[in-house]
Amino acid sequence: MNRLLRIAFALLIVLTTFAGKINAADYSLTPVPMKLTEKDGSFTFQKGFKVSGSGLSDEMSAEIQKFVDAVNLATPLSASVADNDASAAVKVTMTDSKSLGTEGYSLTITPEAVTIEAPTAAGLYYAFQTLKKLMPANVMAGVKDENVKDYSVACLEITDRPRFSHRGFELDCARHYHSMEEIKRMLDIMAVYKMNRFHWHLTDDQGWRVEIEKYPRLLEVSSIAPNAYWYDFENKYEYMLNRPYGEGLYYTKAQMREIVAYAKERHIEVFPEIEMPGHMVAAIAAYPEFSCFPEGDHTIWYRPGVSQDVLNVANPAVIEFCKDVLTEMAEVFPYEFIHIGGDETPSTNWTKNPECIALMKANGWTEPYKLQSWFTKQMADHLATLGKRAVCWNEVVTKQGADVDLAKDANIVIYDWLGSGTSVADQLGLQAVWCHTSYYYLDYGCSNDPGEPRFMGGAVPLPNVYNANPFGGTPDTDNHLGVQGNLWTEYVAEDAHVEYMALPRLIAIAETGWTPASKKNLDDFRRRITADTTLWNYNNYTYGRHYLVNDQQSPSKVMPAEGEYYRLVTRATNHERAGRCIELVRKGSPLISSKHAAEGRIWTNTQVANTDANADWQLWKFELDPDGSGLYAMVC
Ligand code: ACM
Repeated sequence: MNRLLRIAFALLIVLTTFAGKINAADYSLTPVPMKLTEKDGSFTFQKGFKVSGSGLSDEMSAEIQKFVDAVNLATPLSASVADNDASAAVKVTMTDSKSLGTEGYSLTITPEAVTIEAPTAAGLYYAFQTLKKLMPANVMAGVKDENVKDYSVACLEITDRPRFSHRGFELDCARHYHSMEEIKRMLDIMAVYKMNRFHWHLTDDQGWRVEIEKYPRLLEVSSIAPNAYWYDFENKYEYMLNRPYGEGLYYTKAQMREIVAYAKERHIEVFPEIEMPGHMVAAIAAYPEFSCFPEGDHTIWYRPGVSQDVLNVANPAVIEFCKDVLTEMAEVFPYEFIHIGGDETPSTNWTKNPECIALMKANGWTEPYKLQSWFTKQMADHLATLGKRAVCWNEVVTKQGADVDLAKDANIVIYDWLGSGTSVADQLGLQAVWCHTSYYYLDYGCSNDPGEPRFMGGAVPLPNVYNANPFGGTPDTDNHLGVQGNLWTEYVAEDAHVEYMALPRLIAIAETGWTPASKKNLDDFRRRITADTTLWNYNNYTYGRHYLVNDQQSPSKVMPAEGEYYRLVTRATNHERAGRCIELVRKGSPLISSKHAAEGRIWTNTQVANTDANADWQLWKFELDPDGSGLYAMVC
């Protein structure tokens, strides 16, 4: 066997499992915990291990059961729950430590045992998410993998709690419908990265996708546009459908409840967005009497933009309609927030509509936007009677003419997408969530590469997302609730495309939402998300490869220079590389035709890596060996 590995001519490399300490590079913990201390050694989960709780609430005991179920789903370990068992491998106790907040936990892993303390079920859930993330990736993925034989985790001490209480993801399911399965897949990803708010955008000019029993025409008429933009993500071309789009593409109340329950298991609160009084063209198509000009053209839109055709807020039937819709939403969504939009509402039609003109005159309003403030306040008050709270886009406090006192009275939460909402919210003492277009809009491009699918706005590459300072870098306060990534879908038709736009940029937002700013590091984040492709591959997620390690220099090939000596360095864990054969695919290799591999890529013969798309090539890199004497691999 050669001591030096001359990669240009190497054939197959076998990597062996090493015993002993598991190094930092062997696990990938994202978001980075508030405090983490590495210790020597590792803890191995043995077959039949027990998880024991003492003094726990029912909700906390349920978290233990969920962890045990997750382990048993993905491994042959046959874990079980035990009560008050001092000999259990994993011991959970309730703590009333105020320092952990409502979502924090502490986790200690020694060679003998795993000990968790948490004050709440949410904290305990996040402790188990951390533990699962430290284990081989198939556990978090929920996938059995017979190649994984060893379930060990590094010895660590972690004390953790999030920086922000709101760590959100918004998905537009109005412009293009996205399947129940896709929403659940995105909730799964959110849960892996400890995000806790799903903002479900359900209505817009291009489609109404939510069942409202009192207004059946919203599904019969408003869900179906005459046409739609389409982007075929796999084949990479765009076109207009040139046929109606949307029939049957909506969510029933039962389906929405299913999503709420699925998210709840993952400690994610779901809140709906029903846009009003603008972005209402689809509803107006079914109920033209709600428009300022009922006799006009109310064709449902199928292109992006902002319509002048807004609700006639001076019509009492419109107020009743909006309240009815919110009442039905409040029955389905159990949490405090209901998003009522409020962005991009032109007031031109109000200035021409006799009822709106009369209402302005009666109140002495000179600014037409006062009509929107008046409308929004009524909706917020209505929601308050239902035990809910209105949350809105930042225009409700920043638009010329907005009545900020009404917004303050209504205690509206401001979703700052323009960057101007935070300072006004601060002045008013209102809470805010930061989702600035220039940083956290996931419908903006992943890069400026000519090959990118069409996108809104400009490009917001991963480093811009990762390095953004929420709330413009102003100090964290209790009113700065947190962060959110927004994914609008004017140009995102297919489910795989949703994942491509979100992954990994949404994870950068998740880390910003959780990890103390001082502990963030882009290079280390790139290392960790590169390693996490193993996790994503188990469930065939689609993701952008921009900014995975090595991707910048060489997006499709890792062929080293001929005549140089290299060492092969892996980001994979010992478990992941155990028993693998790794091959550098050469020109003319039969793998190219038989396995869809590509010249210059690393190909592995087991597990998730047997297709080109799934190849774990990015988990490996060649480093020029400074001494010319690398001893990091064996040729087989
Ligand atoms: C928005 O992007 N119009 C909130």
